[in-house]
Amino acid sequence: MPTITNAIIERSSKRAFLQKPVTREIQEEILKAAAMTPSGANMQPWITYAISDKEVLKNIGDAIIQKMNSGAEHDQFIQYYPLEWKPIYKKRRFETGIGLYAHMGVDRKDVETRTKMWHDNFRWFNAQCVFFVFTDKAMIDGAVGALIDCGAYMQSIMLCARDFGLESCPQGSTTEFGRVVAKVLDAPDNLALLYSVVIGYEDKEAKINSYRPQRADISETVIFI
Ligand SMILES: Cc1cc2nc3c(=O)[nH]c(=O)nc-3n(C[C@H](O)[C@H](O)[C@H](O)COP(=O)(O)O)c2cc1C
Repeated sequence: MPTITNAIIERSSKRAFLQKPVTREIQEEILKAAAMTPSGANMQPWITYAISDKEVLKNIGDAIIQKMNSGAEHDQFIQYYPLEWKPIYKKRRFETGIGLYAHMGVDRKDVETRTKMWHDNFRWFNAQCVFFVFTDKAMIDGAVGALIDCGAYMQSIMLCARDFGLESCPQGSTTEFGRVVAKVLDAPDNLALLYSVVIGYEDKEAKINSYRPQRADISETVIFI
């Protein structure tokens, strides 16, 4: 099968990484390639903070966890998930979440372990590099095209990373606390955080990394005419 098809099929989200830094050179190679992602009218609406400074990553994580502990459900620029879940999407979300906990032998009612697993997002799954992707607020004021472009940019990052022996985890968990991230980074007022992508060297011994949620058959998602 062609290499690119394989790269797409074989990528999966990893949630345990080695404490091995990603060099600045590799980060630049990945981001240069991702910058070739197509965008409407070549707008290139992505603005990326590539962070490998341990202290900054810790500060972002601490600030998000503190916000969550204060009872806030989110502090965001954009609403990623639907406000009303239609049954089909609810079922897929449920199966994927339950599947992960079952894979890890975590009881559904074990709120403490589940919370810790969620907080791992904000410890970057032990990875040493996170790309935080923002866009200009003007791009998403009454328009959504930039979100399409930045979604494609996300996949470019994740696929390109694999060429350097790196794995990734896309994060909407940071989308939900985008304003907290922006505050810690002292990002300009015109920027809105869309998502982050954790980049690093996979811990191949970690059981969590062998979780592979299935996809719906294309008969459910494709209409051939
Ligand atoms: C936009 C987006 C946001 C996501 N947010 C998170 C997240 O915050 N934490 C996490 O562990 N996984 C997150 N994921 C990973 C999804 O759960 C994962 O892509 C999906 O279950 C399919 O699994 P796979 O990526 O291993 O193929 C996110 C994926 C996307 C595309």
